[in-house]
Amino acid sequence: MRIGIVGVGVVGSSVVRILQQNKEVIAARAGEEIIPVKGVVRSLGKQRNVDISLYSDIESVLNDDSIDTIVELMGGVDEAFIVAKKTLGAKKRLVTANKALLAYHRYELQEIAGEIPIGFEASVAGGIPIIKALRDGLGANHILEISGILNGTCNYILTKMLYENIDYATALQEAQHLGYAEADPVFDVGGIDAAHKLLILASLAYGIDAKPDDILIEGITKISNDEIAFAREFGYSIKLLGIAKRQNNQVELRIHPAFIKNAEMLSRVDGVMNGISVVGDCVGETMFYGAGAGGDATASAVISDLIEIARSKGAPMLGFKKPFESGLYLRSQEEIQSRYYLKAEVADKTGVLAQIAKILSEEDISINSLLQQNGMNDAKILLSTHYALEKNIKCALKRLGELPVVLSEPLMIRIKD
Ligand code: HSE
Repeated sequence: MRIGIVGVGVVGSSVVRILQQNKEVIAARAGEEIIPVKGVVRSLGKQRNVDISLYSDIESVLNDDSIDTIVELMGGVDEAFIVAKKTLGAKKRLVTANKALLAYHRYELQEIAGEIPIGFEASVAGGIPIIKALRDGLGANHILEISGILNGTCNYILTKMLYENIDYATALQEAQHLGYAEADPVFDVGGIDAAHKLLILASLAYGIDAKPDDILIEGITKISNDEIAFAREFGYSIKLLGIAKRQNNQVELRIHPAFIKNAEMLSRVDGVMNGISVVGDCVGETMFYGAGAGGDATASAVISDLIEIARSKGAPMLGFKKPFESGLYLRSQEEIQSRYYLKAEVADKTGVLAQIAKILSEEDISINSLLQQNGMNDAKILLSTHYALEKNIKCALKRLGELPVVLSEPLMIRIKD
């Protein structure tokens, strides 16, 4: 597959770099190499860190017969729509990350494309494979409800306000600095970006053809420290939610800030991360979590579309067409490294702790924290370790168990960091 990239900014550069860096694993999964051939940019004068020939006119890519797939990463609606139509007119396959384009023109594009594939995994929630989940993985279900945190910038602002007492304007500036915000921040804080994404999800889940003007969109601009104080007091977080909900023969689509109980999983989706809960009538609730924006995460989704298109004649069961990662082997259980919790019931006598510490030290295990709970004549030693080798822990446990002062078999539980 030979691709042309229209718009070689942050995401485009990541696409090129990842295609080059992960060439072998991508080729193994796609069944062929995916080669970035040409890029189109508005200004050739701008310094870019990308290893691909750049052109300033789209025709040089569209008219190149050796290029069979176009990746559209230019953003905006009208110009991108023209590029998409020209791509399909030239019978080239199209991959786009452009949620605004799809919010307005997805049905027209589907019509124009006919059998020509269009990939758009990167248009919603960056690196989270939510498009493929809805289109393929959850294909057996009637989708009852989707609730999503779909805009990283808003989530960053609300998280900072809730946990760090940072005011709205400072948090927005920080999000912009991190490179997650749209060119016009109103798209983020006004809920428009999230609405574009929700409309795409609603098409996959319900086949609903709605445009941004048709749905309820409220942004986060009215959220002040009063609402933050209320949320803290009553155990809520505040999130900008996109909700698509089916009730009988109606689908409700809305974007607005909402209080969510701290116990809910969506409540724990913090910072710039995105999270989406999808409820299907067969599967129940499923949760998707990950980076919703950023060059590499979005490029990961773009490339997943390229792989899917390359494979279109049928994907093998495990998803690769030739052996790959040939240097990989299964690590022996002994070599696993983890942090560990250890519990030993001991006689409460002089020198017991020293004996335990000696064994741990001889097995190259470093103690991280230690707690002693005293009983009548005995005590429990509860401790956590720094990273250690599984084989050393196993030896230490055996040796601890054999100590006369240790009264029962010591317990070990691994600590996941
Ligand atoms: N501005 C968007 C966000 C970028 O903050 O999530 C990804 O679409």
